[in-house]
Amino acid sequence: MDKKIKIAPSILAADFSKLGEEISAITIAGADYVHVDVMDGHYVPNLTIGPEVIKDIRKCTKIPFDVHLMITPVNPLLEDFAKSGSDIITFHPEAEDNPKGTIEIIKSLGCKVGISLNPSTEINVLDKIIEDIDLILVMTVVPGFGGQSFMHDQLEKIENIRKLIDATGKDIELEVDGGINFETSQLAINAGADVLVAGTSTFQGGQDNYANNISKLRSRS
Ligand code: DX5
Ligand code: ZN
Repeated sequence: MDKKIKIAPSILAADFSKLGEEISAITIAGADYVHVDVMDGHYVPNLTIGPEVIKDIRKCTKIPFDVHLMITPVNPLLEDFAKSGSDIITFHPEAEDNPKGTIEIIKSLGCKVGISLNPSTEINVLDKIIEDIDLILVMTVVPGFGGQSFMHDQLEKIENIRKLIDATGKDIELEVDGGINFETSQLAINAGADVLVAGTSTFQGGQDNYANNISKLRSRS
């Protein structure tokens, strides 16, 4: 039987004036992870939230926090992110000189490790590290902002990474992030995704619609 697709709403598209309530609402609506986009105004041009906010909103749900770091450098802040209650910490390998070292730090802090590939990043970046990680996040937009359009030219990369993961025989999740809506979700699932990040499409229409949005995103046509 096919594995159940996980949905990770990106809280970038939530109403920040009632963030705790929004997180409770997506939990009740069936979200699998809370996807937190951390941007530093340096690695990407946008600026979002850090560990202090994560620590407070962590109290609003028991589902895992999937923290996507779009920051450079990465290492100096890892302890703060782990202590804030992050479960999975994903970083971009070009943001640190020694990604293997960063992976080891994240593991030593008791968190799962994800590696994120920008649209321009080749999959050979995974060659020496795939056996050491728990999740691969494929960006289907240029990171920095929610609400962008899905880049179809990344589908082949998703298919190729699916094959790489299957060849390891390990339980590594394949997450796709950016421009996921009710149509592109199907493309990502068919290409081999296990987890879909969805900001705009989860939070559209207000809290009464979150359960329906999430179940539509994860259904296979
Ligand atoms: C982009 C972020 C994404 C984004 C997703 O830099 O990593 O997680 O917020 O937003 P949507 O689903 O609106 O494209
Ligand atoms: Zn993200």
